[in-house]
Amino acid sequence: MQVTFCRLRTHQWCFILFNVILFHALLFGADFVEQYFLHSLPYVDMKVLEIKDKARKLNMEPLKSNLSKYYVLSQSEVCKGKKIFLLSLVFSSPGNGTRRDLIRKTWGNVTSVRGHPVLTLFALGMPLLVTTQKEIDEESNKNNDIIEGLFLDSSENQTLKITAMIQWAVTFCPNALFILKVDEEMFVNLPSLVDFLLNLKEHLKDIYLGRVIHQDTPNRDPHSQEFIPLSAYPEEYYPDYCSGEAFIMSQDVARMMYVVFKEVPVMVPSDVFVGICAKSIGLIPIHSSRFSGKRHIRYDRCCYKFIFTSSETTDAEISLAWKEINDGKECTLFETYYGLISCKLLTYLDSFKPFHMGTIKNNAMYLGD
Ligand SMILES: *[C@@H]1O[C@H](CO)[C@@H](O)[C@H](O)[C@H]1NC(C)=O
Ligand SMILES: *[C@@H]1O[C@H](CO)[C@@H](O)[C@H](O)[C@H]1NC(C)=O
Ligand SMILES: *[C@@H]1O[C@H](CO)[C@@H](O)[C@H](O)[C@H]1NC(C)=O
Ligand SMILES: *[C@@H]1O[C@H](CO)[C@@H](O)[C@H](O)[C@H]1NC(C)=O
Repeated sequence: MQVTFCRLRTHQWCFILFNVILFHALLFGADFVEQYFLHSLPYVDMKVLEIKDKARKLNMEPLKSNLSKYYVLSQSEVCKGKKIFLLSLVFSSPGNGTRRDLIRKTWGNVTSVRGHPVLTLFALGMPLLVTTQKEIDEESNKNNDIIEGLFLDSSENQTLKITAMIQWAVTFCPNALFILKVDEEMFVNLPSLVDFLLNLKEHLKDIYLGRVIHQDTPNRDPHSQEFIPLSAYPEEYYPDYCSGEAFIMSQDVARMMYVVFKEVPVMVPSDVFVGICAKSIGLIPIHSSRFSGKRHIRYDRCCYKFIFTSSETTDAEISLAWKEINDGKECTLFETYYGLISCKLLTYLDSFKPFHMGTIKNNAMYLGD
């Protein structure tokens, strides 16, 4: 083996080298290119200055004095007088107490990273059933970490949920430097996320960060459930926005968003709604490929130590990831590199699966007609 390897000619070596480079370029290139092109500075004009001024002068006192008009459970005291670096709001469905318990026991149990306080709370709307509400009340009394807005928690009301929760953060947690919106099916590596935010230290303002979706188009198929009529959104493309499974905004951005909520069309998907708000305050979303977006990242210890989120994680995976990330074993540069390659490749291969399953399901439905 050794001998044959040494006998390779120059052009053969070149060929191998070329392939190695091509392999890496395909695997990581897109991330770097995206990161480079999607990173530009926010713009400021008179309208944005006006919004910034309004955001500075926001008075949330009237809301505090009629709390019951907006929230069933308000947790109005959890942030009081505390300095919070990152407030994570886990968007949870009312009936999913088991998932919330799992998050409390695993990644949501982080209260501080390198001395920077982190607070995890659950964001809910109202359930359909009175019995579910009773369970939520009990859960809330026990844990004091549930915010429940005064609206029905349905898929159509997700935009309402985001506005209610940003309103909550601005009103009751104005000391939180950053706010993370994350869905309950995600695994979040809070320590690596906080580390990343700490490295942004030059500017802690104007941050709207996540996996950026570029030039997405509205669904114009009238038979689809996600149909967006021209009257609701006339333009061809959505502005760049952060995929809704997990994204971060700084407190000043949350305040500005609160100012512009009422001027933005609500009939679009909730993450697009946030993107349109961001655009109207002159923000350009910052992309990081360490956010998974909708994709499930195949489990690998060193990969999970590096990334920020993974979608559609099972209970067992969350427990395992949490345990292994906290076992104190560090990953060497090579292990991280190897982990990223393997989880990226496997995730890439996985991306073909739902496509086939979708096709099969569609065909089955077609045959069933
Ligand atoms: C809330 O309470 C304030 C008094 O603190 C009152 O002026 C206001 O009209 C009330 N209602 C709303 C919707 O803010
Ligand atoms: C959560 O963290 C606290 C300390 O911050 C610890 O005392 C507690 O045992 C942890 N809970 C679980 C379920 O790991
Ligand atoms: C959204 O919430 C409002 C307020 O609770 C409710 O009246 C409405 O039916 C909800 N919409 C949907 C589609 O669930
Ligand atoms: C709870 O959430 C998990 C993760 O999103 C999901 O797999 C599960 O079906 C949910 N359970 C209920 C009862 O909603």
